[in-house]
Amino acid sequence: MTANRPQPRPGVLDIAPYVPGKSKAPGVARVFKLSANESPLGPSPKAAAAYREAAGKLEDYPDGAATELRQAIGRTYGLDPERIVCGSGSDELLNLLTHAYLQDGDEAIYTEHGFLMYPIYILGHGGKPIKVAEKDHTANVDSILAAVNENTRIVFIANPNNPTGTYVPFDEIKRLQQGLPPNVILVLDAAYADYVQKNDYEAGIELVATSENVVMCRTFSKIHGLAAVRLGWLYGPAHIVDALNRVRGPFNINTPAMMAGMAALEDSAHLQKSVAHNAEWLPWLAEEIGKLGLKVTPSVANFVLIHFPQDKGRTAADADAFLTERGLILRRVAGYGLPNALRLTVGTEEANRLVVKALSDFLGRAA
Ligand SMILES: Cc1ncc(COP(=O)(O)O)c(C=O)c1O
Repeated sequence: MTANRPQPRPGVLDIAPYVPGKSKAPGVARVFKLSANESPLGPSPKAAAAYREAAGKLEDYPDGAATELRQAIGRTYGLDPERIVCGSGSDELLNLLTHAYLQDGDEAIYTEHGFLMYPIYILGHGGKPIKVAEKDHTANVDSILAAVNENTRIVFIANPNNPTGTYVPFDEIKRLQQGLPPNVILVLDAAYADYVQKNDYEAGIELVATSENVVMCRTFSKIHGLAAVRLGWLYGPAHIVDALNRVRGPFNINTPAMMAGMAALEDSAHLQKSVAHNAEWLPWLAEEIGKLGLKVTPSVANFVLIHFPQDKGRTAADADAFLTERGLILRRVAGYGLPNALRLTVGTEEANRLVVKALSDFLGRAA
C-alpha cells in the first residue's frame, strides 16, 4: 500500500468495474443494440415532448422533493407518495440503501447470477458481498436464508432477475421475508416487473405495505423507454424512506427527467403497446432460438439468456463476434458467471428476425 497518497476506503479497490454492454459494431452501417434491455419501442412520444419542453427552462433547480412525480407514481400504483423516494435511475437507490444501512464488515446477500451492481455498491460502502447459489438459474430462498447470520444487513433480489430472466413466485418471496431477522432489509428489485405475465408473480407492493423491512425498486429505464434520463423510484416503509432522504443528493432528479417520467405514466396506451410487443416477441424468440438447438433459459422479462456449446467455433464468444459483424449486439455475461451464454434483449420485429436468422447461419456454417 502507498501511504503517501490518498487511499479509498477498504473494499473500493476490490470492485471489478462494471462493464456495460457494447453499443457499437465497427464498420457496420446498421446496428441493433440488443445488449442493455432497452425498449425497442422507445419512450412515449408525450414523454419525449415533455422532456423537450422542460429543456426550455434550465436555469432553475429542480424540485428536490420530486413531489409531483411521487404523486403521479402514487396515483398510478395506489401508493402513499410519502413512502416513495425517487432516484437517478434505480441504480442510485440501490447505492443509497447500501450507503445508509451498511457499516464496514457488514454482510449483504445477493444471488449467484444476480445484478452486478449489488456487489459493487456493497463493496463501495465497506460491506462484504455474500453470493449465494441459485437453482436452475433462479434465486433460491432456502440458500438465501441459509446464508443469513448476525452480520447480515441487506438481501438483494432482482425479481425478475437480470441476466437470467427467471423469477421467484410471490409465495416464496413472502417465505423469504418471514425467514429474515427483522433488522435485515429485503430489497425487491423489480426493474422488469411490468413485463411479467405470471399469476404467481407480484412485484412486492403488498409486502412493502405490510412490513417494516422490505423495499421495492422500480425503474423508468425499461418498459417506459427512458433509460437516458435516469429515473427510478423506491417504495418502502416510512423509516427507510426517511433515512434515504437524509443521504440522497438534494436535487438528485433533474427537471426534464421528472417531466418525462410524469408524461410516461400518463400514457398508458404506450405502456400497453410495449407490454404487448414483449408478450408477442419474447416467446417467439425463445421458441425460434430453441428450435436451432440452443438452450434458452425461460424468461419472464424483456430479454432471453441463450446458452452456447463450448466447441471451438460454436462458443458464446464466437457467436458474439459473428452477430456483431452483422450489426447485432448482444450482451456477453461472463462477468455474471455465465461465460457460455449471451443475453439478448427483445428488439423490434426486424431485429428479432435478423437475430434468429444470424444464429441459424452461425450454427449452420462449417466448423
Ligand atoms: C435488475 C436491475 N436492477 C436495476 C437496474 C438499473 O436500472 P436503472 O438504474 O436504469 O433504473 C437494472 C438495469 O439494467 C437491472 O437490470
